[in-house]
Amino acid sequence: MLPTRSYLDHAATTPMLPAAVEAMVEVMGQVGNASSLHTSGRAARRLVEESRELVAEALGARPSEIIFTSGGTEADNLALAGVLDARRCADPRRARLVVSEVEHHAVIDTVEHLTRHDKAHVTWVGCDATGLVDAAALAEAIGGPASAADVALVSVMWANNEVGTVMPVAQLAQVAKAAGIPFHTDAVQAVGQVEVDFAASGADLLSVSGHKVGGPTGIGALVVGRDVAVTPRSFGGGQERQIRSGTLAVASIVGFATAIRHTVAEQATAARRLTALRDRLIHGATQVPGVAVSGPWTPGDWTTRLAGCAHLTVEHCAGDSLLYLLDAAGIECSTGSACQAGVPRPSHVLLAMGMPAERARGALRVTLGHTSTDAEVDAFLAALPGAVERAQRAEAATWRTAAT
Ligand SMILES: Cc1ncc(COP(=O)(O)O)c(C=O)c1O
Repeated sequence: MLPTRSYLDHAATTPMLPAAVEAMVEVMGQVGNASSLHTSGRAARRLVEESRELVAEALGARPSEIIFTSGGTEADNLALAGVLDARRCADPRRARLVVSEVEHHAVIDTVEHLTRHDKAHVTWVGCDATGLVDAAALAEAIGGPASAADVALVSVMWANNEVGTVMPVAQLAQVAKAAGIPFHTDAVQAVGQVEVDFAASGADLLSVSGHKVGGPTGIGALVVGRDVAVTPRSFGGGQERQIRSGTLAVASIVGFATAIRHTVAEQATAARRLTALRDRLIHGATQVPGVAVSGPWTPGDWTTRLAGCAHLTVEHCAGDSLLYLLDAAGIECSTGSACQAGVPRPSHVLLAMGMPAERARGALRVTLGHTSTDAEVDAFLAALPGAVERAQRAEAATWRTAAT
């Protein structure tokens, strides 16, 4: 029997793990500011520091390198603006950011804000037709030693949130290191889906988010290597190594740590299971006329494309129409890119991959996670042909009306 509703939008947010809910609820009933010196405060501090150790262990980092933030967006903002400020203060020539074109808006919009306010200029690094940013493209964007001297930071994500392309992070970090530039990676989609080891990757900063790993929303972390200077963006109590002030969200931190520990421990097993589901979904969907998969896809492999990520484009229709038609049929998925001021636009990631804008309009991102089942994939495959047909008919009718 097919499920009445199928949640296939895990890249947007994934359900909290029961163990994380349980751990959070217990802590929510306890009083104590982790900065207070009395017994309750010290108990709260103990919970925070135990959680910090768990998060660090899950990411291959040292506990002192974990800076808790309100999520991936804040971690990305802090990495870019904070490192730029610190590096420019040390040497005013360092005003250039080298950033990939396929980043999440938490990175792209931060860069655009900084450039608009004359705080930085940017060199965008392109990708290939699968969304991959390679070491040669990064080296070219940085330029020779004379050009490298003006770079404040390189930022390339670990895995793309739309098409699921996994980047060669260790090679990219090596290129930045050879040029003497700190390297930041947004690993929000990668953690729990592929092996993420901060120390082994050679990265200097890494962003992670709680609600993508089975923890609560509103919590995440920026991993900051011990030698990396970051100017704070928020000021006050001096928490988190003076880099990120604000009373610590003890229960959220405990929920995040519980979730990331579990999700990372289960990563290899989950990747095998989800890759099989993903492959069946992509194979079935691409049998529908006009439907194609985007990004890299090697069946059985989750090292080049995230295990849980299927990204499709459908010719001659709008992704939004498909999304609403599928939702009416009980399938919850996404177009993968946000509307801007309510107007759907083709995704900047698909355009960077060289996809024509007309094709990119028909994008559909279907993402799987720990609650995903075979029955949900069956439900999606059963609903897709009808949704495609109706969306294409609606599109054709719009064109006919426009032509009269
Ligand atoms: C790659 C990537 N970076 C950053 C973010 C933002 O994270 P958060 O929702 O925790 O602010 C997301 C969220 O979708 C993401 O996919």
